[in-house]
Amino acid sequence: MNQTSKRKIEQLRICAEKDVEVPENCFADVKLVHVALPEVDKEEINLKTDFLGFSFNYPLIIASMTGGHPETRRINEVLAEAAEALGVGMGVGSQRAALESAEHEDSFRVVRTVAPTSFIYANLGAPQVREYGIEGVERVIEMIDADAVAIHLNFLQEAIQPEGDVDARGCLAAIKEVCEAIKKPVIVKETGAGISYAVAKKLQDVGVSAIDVGGYGGTSLAAAEIYRAKSEGDWRAEHLGNLFGWDWGITTVESIVECSAIPFPIPIIGTGGIRNGLDVAKGIALGANLCSAALPFLKLATETLRADKVIEKVKEIGEELMVAMFLTGCKTTVELREAEVVITGKTKEIMEQRGFFERMKRRKRVIS
Ligand SMILES: Cc1cc2nc3c(=O)[nH]c(=O)nc-3n(C[C@H](O)[C@H](O)[C@H](O)COP(=O)(O)O)c2cc1C
Repeated sequence: MNQTSKRKIEQLRICAEKDVEVPENCFADVKLVHVALPEVDKEEINLKTDFLGFSFNYPLIIASMTGGHPETRRINEVLAEAAEALGVGMGVGSQRAALESAEHEDSFRVVRTVAPTSFIYANLGAPQVREYGIEGVERVIEMIDADAVAIHLNFLQEAIQPEGDVDARGCLAAIKEVCEAIKKPVIVKETGAGISYAVAKKLQDVGVSAIDVGGYGGTSLAAAEIYRAKSEGDWRAEHLGNLFGWDWGITTVESIVECSAIPFPIPIIGTGGIRNGLDVAKGIALGANLCSAALPFLKLATETLRADKVIEKVKEIGEELMVAMFLTGCKTTVELREAEVVITGKTKEIMEQRGFFERMKRRKRVIS
């Protein structure tokens, strides 16, 4: 087993079993304004959402998590079966392990086998894109006949891992090359520390098709490193994980607002702490085109190894979202993006300091 494969299975087990969620959920600072006279028949609410030229039955993606170890094959299979049954999108985890060793390809390929018609995106970290170049990106896309490729940014986690890749030079140039050479849409995603306005602008300028904000507010992969470090007696990584894992990053809420404030914004996926349909509704009302979640689906898939349990969860999220849409008088997710929101607490304070509260008020109806 190569190092990457070992790390991926350890990370998966830790996230499935231990506490890896940051304590504050930023969506608690966001309220949708109740419309007492919605003038909508709840039955006519339509969750169908277009994203990068694809149609989704729910504005939801099962976020990148796994593959790259034999044990992860079944989990990807369960998640893909659910995605296919419901018409939601799905991302695979980093395909680095499969680039390093072809024996791991099958744990990714299974996704396309089980979900032949779903929107599936490939996944590779920015340093690996720089290392393997266009050929590597083409290989990960081909491996799962992907509809798009996500390049992930996870320098927070890399800075904590003893073996982490902390040379971040040249990643933007590598992303630009991919955007120029690859015909499929390129998504850039963070993995729990969020994307600011300035970074979103740079990504847009090099031709990225969509941004997954991957904000602070849900799973902290940096905190997951604490458990790995403890078991290996690595005090440095344990200390850094404790210091940064619970308290570093741009929240999902702020990140959605900042990324959607760039001129002519590109599509946005709201990820990081999305735990129910009300969170999805808030994410979309803040400016996301759709949302995605990882940990809730991972826990269900690993505990039960049953696609029907994941399907139930997605349907529950859909029902919750529909209630939120009904009570804000929105028939479609496009209308939901215009819904009125209230932002309070620490989120409001940070947005004000960074100058995004006023900008957001100009863009849409925000009550202060
Ligand atoms: C076990 C696990 C493994 C992950 N692996 C990857 C990965 O390989 N590539 C990636 O882009 N994101 C990865 N992520 C990050 C998720 O896609 C997502 O951005 C993050 O978990 C925040 O969403 P959540 O709060 O709903 O879990 C992983 C998340 C988990 C929980």
